[in-house]
Amino acid sequence: MAEATADLPIKTETTRDTSDEADGTQALSVRQLDVYYGESQIIRKVDLDLRPGSITALMGRNGVGKTTLLKAIMGLLPARQGEILLSGQSVVKSPTEKRARGGIAYVPQGREIFPKLTIEENIKLGLQAHPQRPKHFSEDEIFGLFPFLATMRNRLGGNLSGGQQQQLALARALVGNPRVLLLDEPTEGIQPSIIDDIERVLTDLRAKGKIAILLVEQYLDFARRLSNRFYIMQRGSMVLSGETQKLTDDEVKRYLAF
Ligand SMILES: Nc1ncnc2c1ncn2[C@@H]1O[C@H](COP(=O)(O)OP(=O)(O)OP(=O)(O)O)[C@@H](O)[C@H]1O
Ligand SMILES: [Mg+2]
Repeated sequence: MAEATADLPIKTETTRDTSDEADGTQALSVRQLDVYYGESQIIRKVDLDLRPGSITALMGRNGVGKTTLLKAIMGLLPARQGEILLSGQSVVKSPTEKRARGGIAYVPQGREIFPKLTIEENIKLGLQAHPQRPKHFSEDEIFGLFPFLATMRNRLGGNLSGGQQQQLALARALVGNPRVLLLDEPTEGIQPSIIDDIERVLTDLRAKGKIAILLVEQYLDFARRLSNRFYIMQRGSMVLSGETQKLTDDEVKRYLAF
C-alpha cells in the first residue's frame, strides 16, 4: 500500500515553511540545483536552506539522491545548473578544498577515517585542514564530547568499532570548526549505545548554536528527535519540507515508509 502512494506524481508540491526564505541569515542555501551522473539527472531543481544552530534532516527512501546532493554541496560532483551559497557567497564553482576552507565539513556515508593512523593523528589532520578558522571547539572540548577518544588516543583508527570510527569521523570534522556540517547516515550499522552517544553530541552542537547541520538519516525517530526542520526527497526532487514537529504520520507513511 505504501508503494502505491509513493508513486503518486509529485506535482502536489507542498513546501510549507517559507518563514526564513528572505531574511538572508542562512548558513547554506542551495537554489535550483541540477546534478547529473553522466546523462542521468539525479538532482532536479533542488532548493535547500540551512540555518546556523539548527539541525535539518534530509530524508527519503534509498536511491532518491540524498548522498548525491551532499557530494554536490561539498564539490565532489559538479552542478550542471543552479547555485550554492555559503553564508551568502557563491561556492558553486569552487573546488572541494576551497569549500572545506570556507567551513563546509562532510562526514560521508560509511565514514572515512585513516585506519593506519591513531585517533590522535586522525584528529590532528582535521585541525591542519583549517588552521586559520576561528575555534568553536577546543581540542579538549572535542575530547570532552567523545571521552573514549581521549582514553584511546594512541589506538589505530582501523582497530576501532564501526561506531567508534563514526564518532572519530565526526570529531575530526568538528575540530575544523565548520559552519556547515554534512552528515550522511551517521547511525547506519551502529549499535544502539553509540547511537545514543552520537545523539547527545548532536544535541550539544545544536544547543551551542554555531553550526548548521544537515543530517541525512533513514532512522526516522532519531531524525525526528534531533531536527528542527526537514526536507523529504523523491526521485531527485524535494517533495516536502517544513518544521519537524509538524511532520505528520501520514506524510511519513507516504514518503518514507518502505
Ligand atoms: N557513481 C554513480 N554513477 C551513476 N549513478 C549513480 C552513482 N552513484 C549513485 N548513482 C545513482 O544516483 C541515484 C541517487 O543515489 P544516491 O546514492 O544519491 O541515493 P541516496 O538517497 O543517498 O540512497 P541511500 O539511501 O541508499 O544512501 C541512484 O539512482 C543511484 O543509482
Ligand atoms: Mg546515500
